[in-house]
Amino acid sequence: MTAESGHLEWWKTGVVYQIYPRSFQDTKGNGIGDLPGITERLGYVSETLGVDAIWISPFYPSPMVDFGYDVADYTGVDPMFGTLDDFDRLLCEVHTRELRVIIDWVPNHTSDRHPWFLESKSSRNNPRRDWYVWRDPKSDGSPPNNWQSVFGGPAWEFDEHTGQFYLHSFLKEQPDLNWRNPAVEAAMFDTLRFWLDRGVDGFRIDVAHFIMKDPEFTDNPRATPSTGDADFKDLGDYDAWEHINDKGHPDVHAVFRRLRRVLDDYDGDRFAVGEIHVFDWDEWAAYYGDGDELHMPFNFSLVWAAWDAKAIRARVEALEDAIPAAAWPNYVLGNHDEQRLATRFGPENAGAAAVLLLTLRGQPTIYYGDELGLRETPIPAEQQQDPWGLRVPGLGRDGCRTPMVWTSGDGHGFTDPDVEPWLPFGDDADMRNVETELVDEGSTLMLYRRMLRLRKARPSLVAGTIEFLDDLPEDVLGFVRTHGDERTVVFINFADEARPVDLEPGAALLLSTDHRRTTIGSGSVSLAGNEAMIIDPGDPHVV
Ligand code: GLC
Repeated sequence: MTAESGHLEWWKTGVVYQIYPRSFQDTKGNGIGDLPGITERLGYVSETLGVDAIWISPFYPSPMVDFGYDVADYTGVDPMFGTLDDFDRLLCEVHTRELRVIIDWVPNHTSDRHPWFLESKSSRNNPRRDWYVWRDPKSDGSPPNNWQSVFGGPAWEFDEHTGQFYLHSFLKEQPDLNWRNPAVEAAMFDTLRFWLDRGVDGFRIDVAHFIMKDPEFTDNPRATPSTGDADFKDLGDYDAWEHINDKGHPDVHAVFRRLRRVLDDYDGDRFAVGEIHVFDWDEWAAYYGDGDELHMPFNFSLVWAAWDAKAIRARVEALEDAIPAAAWPNYVLGNHDEQRLATRFGPENAGAAAVLLLTLRGQPTIYYGDELGLRETPIPAEQQQDPWGLRVPGLGRDGCRTPMVWTSGDGHGFTDPDVEPWLPFGDDADMRNVETELVDEGSTLMLYRRMLRLRKARPSLVAGTIEFLDDLPEDVLGFVRTHGDERTVVFINFADEARPVDLEPGAALLLSTDHRRTTIGSGSVSLAGNEAMIIDPGDPHVV
């Protein structure tokens, strides 16, 4: 960044791009993406698009029951994705391009094939028995308590061989580790060091708040309408319970303070962001600690927000109120667990959503393919693969995990033309792909490119304060980012129809979601339906 924005760490100034490795680039011709594929596409990531860091979803050895979130070895690479050498080459290439890399770390559970679990379940007195959460059945033989798995059904699986239940907050193939056992913490922290020693810049911590549960294993109470969370997607039967005892126990904070010390022992601003679905803002903000826990908990508050000016403003203001003074905010609009944003917010709003994501105060994370405006791909029943969707119809995540679309024509540059990819491309893949969008000034990709370049050129968009503008038409969200003498104004029209906004004298257009608009008049401008605009309001001293 420029000197003007001070000495901010890379994770404060940069934009993160999430790559789902199965779906980015196949170099082996088996229809599944791999690590050499990511290396091959780094030019796209850093130059064509212009982001600053990549987050790679899990590539560890895994039976792939939950597509890599069931880890069988935390210090290796699944042969499907390549080798450790491939990872080292990727890392080296990332750093040569002055990009950063964050990898997924899955501490709550391992695969049921992990050697630790195989030992743990082998007998009640195995030294690793207590590395997982084992409990006796109730006297009637039923599970120890009423906790439910996120993916449906009880969170307990009975093991005939040893006569006890083990806990699995997700699939039964994903047994929960016992983080109250110091040996587990030590072993898991060693896996962090393994990757830190290799040079990774940080971690995305999978379901970070799940690692500490109520030590008494108290039943969860039934949810009531007031305890249910209307702001998040419907999780089916899981929502029938108030999940106060099966995750997020306050003891989690001490673990993250110790984890932070592991990272801080390394030079180079190593970073940790937690996947934390908590909707009470104070509870959420607690994961920053006093600047001594996670660098940030992911902020998912906009993911399932209504596409509505007031709703979005309310959530951003709630975050700004809740966040500790020295902490850095962040925004996410999509990821591998959520419906594609162009489908959720409406394809006509994909451009405005990009402007929102990249101009709010905080670190933005872009989900691969959202920069093309990809829609959720409908997956025919016989091709569905996500275990969640197979267990709870309607909750499948395959539609947002379909392969990256690089070109028109069979294989779409993702895989060989005669190979069937692991998930199908959308019907619009010949139209919505990198090759086609790069020669269309009006494409979503070109808008992301322009936005990312503008962000780099305007310190106020990165380091500035944020202040909302009042007295705007009802459907228009407007805010000013200010840094030193530089001010940048953002207007987003949430309506399908035009809306007028007033401008200060001397205001100049920096960017519009409509690339054909090159200037704005003086005094006022009419935002077209679904248009977003970024404006240099002029010199404040002249007004
Ligand atoms: C997280 C991941 C999701 C995975 C789950 C279990 O929510 O993002 O993809 O299925 O954790 O690990």
